Amino acid sequence: MYYICITGSGEFLEREELKKLAAEKAVEQIKDGMIIGLGTGSTMKYTLKKLGELVRKGLKIQGIATSVNTKHIAQEEGISLTTIDEHPEIDITIDGADEVDGSLNLIKGGGGALTREKIIAYNSKKVVIVVDDSKIVKALGIDFPLPVEVIKFGWTSTKKALESFGCEVVRREIIQGEPFITDNGNYILDCDFEHIPEPEQLEKDINNIPGVVENGLFINLAHQVIVGGKQGIITLDKEKTVL
Ligand code: A5P
Repeated sequence: MYYICITGSGEFLEREELKKLAAEKAVEQIKDGMIIGLGTGSTMKYTLKKLGELVRKGLKIQGIATSVNTKHIAQEEGISLTTIDEHPEIDITIDGADEVDGSLNLIKGGGGALTREKIIAYNSKKVVIVVDDSKIVKALGIDFPLPVEVIKFGWTSTKKALESFGCEVVRREIIQGEPFITDNGNYILDCDFEHIPEPEQLEKDINNIPGVVENGLFINLAHQVIVGGKQGIITLDKEKTVL
């Protein structure tokens, strides 16, 4: 396999290629009649495009979008959509992630869709995560701040409570002074921990703060992670994984 390497933009092209490899590999698990959770993000875009191709060739599936953005892409691709209320049992979810550790625990929410993504993942028989190899980390929180969705009311107090866990917290903004608003009408507070030694406990502790809707720690939710790397595709399954 060859990678296009142009100084400056070469790394970008390579990353995109690796994301695409992983994203398309996951689609091989999709069968006629499945209800599929459709994650959010730039890697998922390749999954949605591949699914669209298959739908145009006759594949019969119904998707549940985890964000307004994913809903729009799925509609453009001709993928039929349903809701979790109509189909509470989801056969498989495919989604991206911002970080993956050796136990297949994740940080998600770079696109701000973490709450809907977590609801969909929690209700799925199988959760497949698609990433390029830059997302694999020794400990969560090393490279990526933890996104926490909070309601607007009292958000500065919620921020203080989050800071008591020893992280630096910033409200996510689209441009300076203009806050990012989630599909649920809330803020995202990005919490920079240098690393998260006990993600399982932290997930619960953060969700105990009044005002927090959900946080981006996905613990024991992923069954499989498909990694696009320079050597090809690696599939990590929950039972067998120690990085
Ligand atoms: C969306 O809120 C996120 O959880 C994404 O799934 C995650 O940020 C991965 O996105 P990329 O595929 O764009 O890196």
